[in-house]
Formats: sequence, structure tokens, C-alpha cells
Amino acid sequence: MISSSDRSRRIRGKEVFRRMTRENSVSVNDLIYPMFSSFGKGISKEVSSMPGVYQQSIENIVAEAKEVYGLGIPAVILFGIPETKDPVGSDAYSDHGIIQETIRAIKRELPELAVITDVCLCEYTDHGHCGLIKNGDVDNDSTVELLAREALSHARAGADMVAPSDMMDGRVRAIRETLDDNGFKHIPIMSYAVKYASGYYGPFREAAESTPQFGDRRSYQMDPANRLEALREAKQDIEQGADIIMVKPGLPYLDIVRDLRNEFNMPLAVYNVSGEYSMIKAASANGWIDEERVVMETMLGFKRAGADIIITYHAKDVARWLSR
Ligand code: PBG
Ligand code: ZN
Repeated sequence: MISSSDRSRRIRGKEVFRRMTRENSVSVNDLIYPMFSSFGKGISKEVSSMPGVYQQSIENIVAEAKEVYGLGIPAVILFGIPETKDPVGSDAYSDHGIIQETIRAIKRELPELAVITDVCLCEYTDHGHCGLIKNGDVDNDSTVELLAREALSHARAGADMVAPSDMMDGRVRAIRETLDDNGFKHIPIMSYAVKYASGYYGPFREAAESTPQFGDRRSYQMDPANRLEALREAKQDIEQGADIIMVKPGLPYLDIVRDLRNEFNMPLAVYNVSGEYSMIKAASANGWIDEERVVMETMLGFKRAGADIIITYHAKDVARWLSR
């Protein structure tokens, strides 16, 4: 006999009851949209492995930012493709670098759209690593100095928030101190606190033209097997002054999102990275899955795992689907 208290289907039986008892939801307020800003004029080049995502010159970035703002998405995160790369990533901290000019152009037209910048060197170095190379490896402390300079130049150009993605030790503290000492106490840091050395970044490296020319990023990004280390990384970044902590990638690391949610009372972001996007796009282009359904289920998965903020290339579609 099935007892009357076993009837879970009573509630599931009507949409109105499902709606009343739904535990999690996705909102446009949760979303951050990543954009790739390229030097030059009239550029709008689709990334072949990321349908719907473009490398664009500044005027086209501003036009898309208007669309993003119009959809109610609160923020974009910017990546730069500079005209020239060199061993020390000079364009990253030049006051007239690609990102600095892009920030000014967006803020001029859309003062209310939050502009977040990715703070890293890999898009600007000719070797494609996230820092300065010494004796064949990325040197931590000299890289941290440059990252702090980069974050400061973003803030000077008008960035609303900076997001270091390099995984050097001590960079959050260095950036915090540099911002504070230069009149930017109010600019928050969203730290890529827990960032794994992941195969899921493949399409991004095409988009940002940032594939390492030798070796890989395993000496600074985390080993995918590790879980306790994620708690240590997040703790360090919080102690150093991070305002928002992030887990990256998203889908293969939902357990880590939940661990951080349970352990720290901080705003928590998840990066639904390029490879996750490409897989859904490829499968839906083939008619193998229902794109809207799978994307929305994915977003809900991030929320259920405990994320407050979702950085995703699907953001514009999600905003449109939510507003129907
Ligand atoms: C730069 C950076 C990367 C991503 C965000 N910032 C690439 C990397 O570390 O190789 C990946 C984002 C994505 O795959 O969508 N360090
Ligand atoms: Zn990098």
C-alpha cells in the first residue's frame, strides 16, 4: 500500500502548485555577458567554435553593449585583443590599450551598464602565458606587480569592477592595495578564486587569441582532481580583499560551487565557460538537444548549486527567454 504521505505527485500534478513550490529561479539580474574587444575598425568576426560570439572593434562592442543593456543584463566582462603583443604584455596596462579605450567608449554611451574587466596578461603576451616568463615558467611576484598596474589602469579608464583571472599567489592583495592607494577604494574585486586548468577553455583561446605558445597553465591553474584546495584558494582571496569569489569552469565543478556556498558567506559567481557553451551550441545546431530547455536547465543548475552570479555567453538568449 502507498501511504497518503508518499504522494509527492499531488504537488507535481498542477503547474500552479509546481510554480508555488519551486525552490530556485534564474533572473536576468544574475547574468554577466562576456565580450571580446578587438583593435581596428569595422571588425565583427564570429568565433568559429562559438556561434553567436564575435571579436568586435570598439564601435561594434558599444552597439552590442546597448543591446545587452536593453535586455536588462546588469554587467559585461571585457576581454581584449590588442594590436601588438610582446613578452611583457604592455597593452594590458597601457592607458590607451584596447580595454582602456573600450571601457571609455562603453561608459560614455552607457554609464549605467556595469563594466567589469578581466585582469590577466595572456591576451597581451606574445607567448600567451598569464604572466612574465623567467627560467621557462611564469614568475609570480613580478607578474603580480603588472597585474596591479593593469587593474589600476582599468579603474582609471572607468571600469566598475576588476576580475583577476591569472591565478598568481597574492594578486588580490596587491590589486586591492594599489587601488586603495590611488583613490579607488570603492572599486570591487571579483576574484577568479578557484580556477582549474581546464580543457573547456579551448574555444575561448581561439576567441582571445591567447593559446600558450609553449607548455600549459598547470603551474598556476588548479588541478581538476582537487576539492579541498578550492576552499584554501577561496579563503586566501577573501582574506586578501576579494568582494566576489568565482568558480571556473562551471558544469564540471558544481560540487565546488556548493562547497564554497556552504563554507563562505560571500557573493559567489560561476563562469559557464566557452567549451560548455560550444558543446550546447553544437548539439543544438545538430538538432540533438532543445537549446532553450538545456540552457535554462544549466542556469538553474548553477543557482541550485549555490551561485549568485552566472557569467555566460548565453546571457542575451537567457534574458530574452526570461522576458517572454
Ligand atoms: C584568461 C581567461 C581565460 C578565461 C577567462 N579568462 C582563459 C584561460 O585561462 O586560458 C576562459 C573563459 C572561457 O573559456 O570562456 N586567463
Ligand atoms: Zn590569463
